[in-house]
Amino acid sequence: MAENEALDHGAIIEFPRKAGPRPKTRARRVVAIGGGKGGIGKSLVSANLGIALAERGSKVVLVDADLGGANLHTCLGVAQPRVSLSDFVEKRVDRLEDVVVPTGIERLELISGAMDELDAANPKHSQKSKLLRHLKTLDVDYVLLDLGAGTSFHVIDFFLIADIGIVVMLPEPTSIENAYRFIKAAFFRRLQTLAPEDDFASIVARALAPRDGQAPLTPMDVVFELRKTDVESAARLEHALAGFTPWVLVNQARTRGDFDIGPTVVSAWKKFFGLELGYLGSVAHDDAVWQAVRARQSLIRAFPQSAAAAGLLRVAENLIALER
Ligand SMILES: Nc1ncnc2c1ncn2[C@@H]1O[C@H](COP(=O)(O)OP(=O)(O)OP(=O)(O)O)[C@@H](O)[C@H]1O
Ligand SMILES: [Mg+2]
Repeated sequence: MAENEALDHGAIIEFPRKAGPRPKTRARRVVAIGGGKGGIGKSLVSANLGIALAERGSKVVLVDADLGGANLHTCLGVAQPRVSLSDFVEKRVDRLEDVVVPTGIERLELISGAMDELDAANPKHSQKSKLLRHLKTLDVDYVLLDLGAGTSFHVIDFFLIADIGIVVMLPEPTSIENAYRFIKAAFFRRLQTLAPEDDFASIVARALAPRDGQAPLTPMDVVFELRKTDVESAARLEHALAGFTPWVLVNQARTRGDFDIGPTVVSAWKKFFGLELGYLGSVAHDDAVWQAVRARQSLIRAFPQSAAAAGLLRVAENLIALER
């Protein structure tokens, strides 16, 4: 089997570095919406953020990057498009632009998720890296990536190409644990991509492993320790910490405590990771959500006055504010 046809078991993707002149056609912002688990509202958030940003004048492409269970079109209230990511990765069309379809909402377009012809659970390495490269070249203000569940490399690599990575979680211990695992997996994957030629990520993972009776080291502790013996690795780790800012979004908040949990979790994780984690906002649990899904309409368009729509609009404002 040719090397570039190897199934993707986590082979490192070479992402373009930021240096150099910016290409003429280039997405201004790639935003990925992920989280550790299924059914937590990633597609709801993606679809409605897309609508909110388009309504505020931005040109947006929503991408259903859930390779196993594409259903973003349903959250937008549109029929399953005839073309999808499969057509691009299977080379039935030449350009990613050829699978972009309108949504009926001005300035908002959709790339529908892969159909079963793409071996969704196991995309080829060459397929995934081609897709990741091309997503960055779409000529729009925002590319929003609705990610699949879990922490596999297929999901994490989409998260890591984004300029802004949103981690959705529910205000309950199991979901918070999953979100933590997701951020940790993304962080270690980022370490690998920064230093693919050696075993850097596993050196750091070993340094971070819990010891008997002692609190685990934080990545910042590891930087400090590494500096004593390995200045170069310490500098790499610092670089990895500096360039990685996941943004937490709490969905399905019901109580006052639920609305407060995001900032608490973010400050606890900041201490551990030494990362610039951010808090993007909370969205209420709201019956309007399932009513919109059942009516095959988007939440913001069907129930613009609902509590959940208000929360999503605030999140969109916070996202826009990140650029100011
Ligand atoms: N804020 C909310 N209030 C009420 N129900 C919600 C809310 N957010 C999500 N849901 C419900 O949860 C279901 C799952 O949401 P969604 O499909 O957006 O999750 P997902 O994370 O994309 O799932 P998957 O990983 O399977 O793609 C929705 O059908 C909806 O009914
Ligand atoms: Mg989904």
